[in-house]
Amino acid sequence: MAGTTKASSKTTSKTSAAKNKSNGEPSKFQQLFMDELKDIYWAEKNLVKSLPKMQKAATSEELANAIAEHVEVTKGHVSRLEQVFEMLGAKAVAKKCPAMEGLIAEGQEVVSDTEEDTAVRDAGIIVCSQKIEHYEIAAYGSLRTLANRMGQSEIASLLEQTLEEEKETDQTLTQIAESSVNEEAAAE
Ligand SMILES: [Fe+2]
Repeated sequence: MAGTTKASSKTTSKTSAAKNKSNGEPSKFQQLFMDELKDIYWAEKNLVKSLPKMQKAATSEELANAIAEHVEVTKGHVSRLEQVFEMLGAKAVAKKCPAMEGLIAEGQEVVSDTEEDTAVRDAGIIVCSQKIEHYEIAAYGSLRTLANRMGQSEIASLLEQTLEEEKETDQTLTQIAESSVNEEAAAE
């Protein structure tokens, strides 16, 4: 009996998806894509506001410069997402991303839990920044894949550009941690 119920509910969802398409309304899959797009849009916009605080708190000039550069790159990510919304004929709307809100809060916490002008603070800022980058890498990688599935190759390639920039930032942070910050922090 359970099998029958499952099969019939599957048929129903297939039918409703087809109905949506024929109505010209977004399918559930397109709605999922749009929700994820709004989520990362919220995340990027909030990073533009919060990254400068991390930059000011950083001890090493190298780290402060890397964060400052990433603020500019992040502004580009916001505009790229606005371009994607426009290409889809949709208004750019942000939907609160609780994960990014938490990651940003962790970054603020690490600053308040460490002393000014220390390498330990920088090491903590790098940990939090890399958590942020990895969230974004996951989000953009998935969005790119979804866009390709929707046949939106131009949108996929825009998302891919951002994905590559997030990966570059992640690598820069690893390099700063490994070349100087972690060694200094361990010696403090
Ligand atoms: Fe970004």
